[in-house]
Amino acid sequence: MNTPRKLAAGNWKMNGFRADLQEARNLASDFADPSVDIVLCPPATLVGAMAAALVGSGVRVGGQDCHVKPAGAHTGDISAAMLADAGARYVIVGHSERRADHGETSAIVAQKATAAQSAGLVAIICVGETEAERDAGKTLEVVIQQLVASLPETAQASNTVVAYEPVWAIGTGRTPTRDQIAQVHDSLRDHLPDGAISLLYGGSVKPSNAAEIFAIPNVDGALVGGASLKADDFSAIIAALAQA
Ligand code: PGA
Repeated sequence: MNTPRKLAAGNWKMNGFRADLQEARNLASDFADPSVDIVLCPPATLVGAMAAALVGSGVRVGGQDCHVKPAGAHTGDISAAMLADAGARYVIVGHSERRADHGETSAIVAQKATAAQSAGLVAIICVGETEAERDAGKTLEVVIQQLVASLPETAQASNTVVAYEPVWAIGTGRTPTRDQIAQVHDSLRDHLPDGAISLLYGGSVKPSNAAEIFAIPNVDGALVGGASLKADDFSAIIAALAQA
């Protein structure tokens, strides 16, 4: 049976200028471990330049969002095909910040994932509960509903990664307990159509907690925000994943 690949994905969000490409180069020279796939998702303005800067390294580039259509009259949007053309191999879809800031429903996220797959990209599909949903005891119900509705029928390990990101853990320094992560990841795993789809945890992953998180069953890697902006921190997280 195929097992999931280990993956460390860095989400730069709306951070990063051309000068910051040096961090990506540093990461690439710091780290080359064939057991771990590494992706950096810079803002769209840097996708092409970063892909060029990382040619020949083991680090791949991803977008942070894509439109559901391949082209057309959609001012300000970019398509999955354009990301692929610029050198991206992955794209994040359904991040909670997109769901909250842009009203993206799981149905839209599924269309975006399909668009990504059609363009030859791997879709990193994000799900996660809010703090109020967790407090109400609805975590599993919410994340499974999101997963089922966000996952296209075409999803398989070669074109899909799933990231569990509790909204209350993103950028807050707070993380769920080991048991809370294990419970959600076990349940997500049971609902995935392909056992080799990588399942990432995201939300305040940093060098100091990475090893503990990667030791949890069914955690195949991480989607990292803040700590991916510094090559040293992201390298330490990748090293922890390689050793897990
Ligand atoms: P964080 O962000 O690591 O800064 O908490 C994670 C994410 O939003 O993907």
